[in-house]
Amino acid sequence: MRVLGIETSCDETGVAIFDSQQGLLANQLYSQIKIHANYGGVVPELASRDHVRAIIPLIYAALSEANLQTSDIDGIAYTAGPGLVGALMIGATVSCSLAYALEIPAIAVHHMEGHLLSIMLEKNPPEFPFITLLISGAHTQLIAVTGIGKYKLLGESVDDAVGEAFDKVAKLLGLSYPGGPLLEDLAKHGAPGRYKFPRPMINRPGLTFSFSGLKTFISKMVNTNIKNQQDRADIARGFEEAIVETLLIKCNRALDLTGFHRLVLAGGVAANQSLRNNMNEMMRKRGGKVFYPCPKFCTDNGAMIAYTGMLRIQNWSKTDLTISVRSRWPLEDLSSSITSSLED
Ligand code: KG4
Ligand code: ZN
Repeated sequence: MRVLGIETSCDETGVAIFDSQQGLLANQLYSQIKIHANYGGVVPELASRDHVRAIIPLIYAALSEANLQTSDIDGIAYTAGPGLVGALMIGATVSCSLAYALEIPAIAVHHMEGHLLSIMLEKNPPEFPFITLLISGAHTQLIAVTGIGKYKLLGESVDDAVGEAFDKVAKLLGLSYPGGPLLEDLAKHGAPGRYKFPRPMINRPGLTFSFSGLKTFISKMVNTNIKNQQDRADIARGFEEAIVETLLIKCNRALDLTGFHRLVLAGGVAANQSLRNNMNEMMRKRGGKVFYPCPKFCTDNGAMIAYTGMLRIQNWSKTDLTISVRSRWPLEDLSSSITSSLED
């Protein structure tokens, strides 16, 4: 089975083709970063309009990369949420219309399930069970994964997501959008340990995260403490250290709680090298293993949507040409295939 995957939930248009026998045949990405950078964040209406411009040429580019025609496609998977409604509607409308014309199924995919399964696109994917730390611009979640479609949410952020905190602190430090990768670069020049920022919620039991206080803490000291570029880099370093240590502590707890030995990092922030290095070290000490997708599969992409859609078409979900998207969509709502307990 060959599935065309379409991702338009935010500021990236992603189109990919996944073949159940041969794997990934095409992966095309168009980023809108330049458009939104002028505004310091994503402008939803501009995002929708740019998806309209990019999507059809990108579908042709993916077909040409795979040396295929539309008649070679057996199904279309599109991101139906969570995300920006206008942006999602572009992908959903194009996907359902094309599926109707080609008389093939269209399947609505949950963006976070796409991120969660992006690790399966790698050469040596993990065996089940594992813990996934899903860290993107809008989500921070710890999920116990016992099989495809068997996910249990263990904990999440009550306010800002990690990626959001990176972007906001980057903005405070005068960096452009999206700030995460730029802040990572700046932090490399910072002195380790000069600033010891709070590690939010580590003294409370459980797996809940909160990052808005850390951002507020930094915003209060930024104006008085920055005299030069070195101060800026030191603050970036201190912030990254606080985030990484907080995530390490919570991942350790989730692994202790479940007894699992494998940890998967997913979502845009999983591209962060300092986080990867520290997680590697932690898992080495625990005698377990950490897995992360290559950077292009950490951030938004069509490949994870094509892959997830293929599994859902093959295994469970009803396909349907009703165009319907959701800005909010808890992972637990996905389907009855989501387990309510780890033993299920
Ligand atoms: O998964 P993603 O591409 O989109 C969402 O679904 O949100 O994640 C984007 C987020 C942004 O907040 C971006 O700043 C952050 O991931 N990010 C990073 C890095 N690369 C992307 N944060 C820290 N370090 C990075 N290297
Ligand atoms: Zn994403």
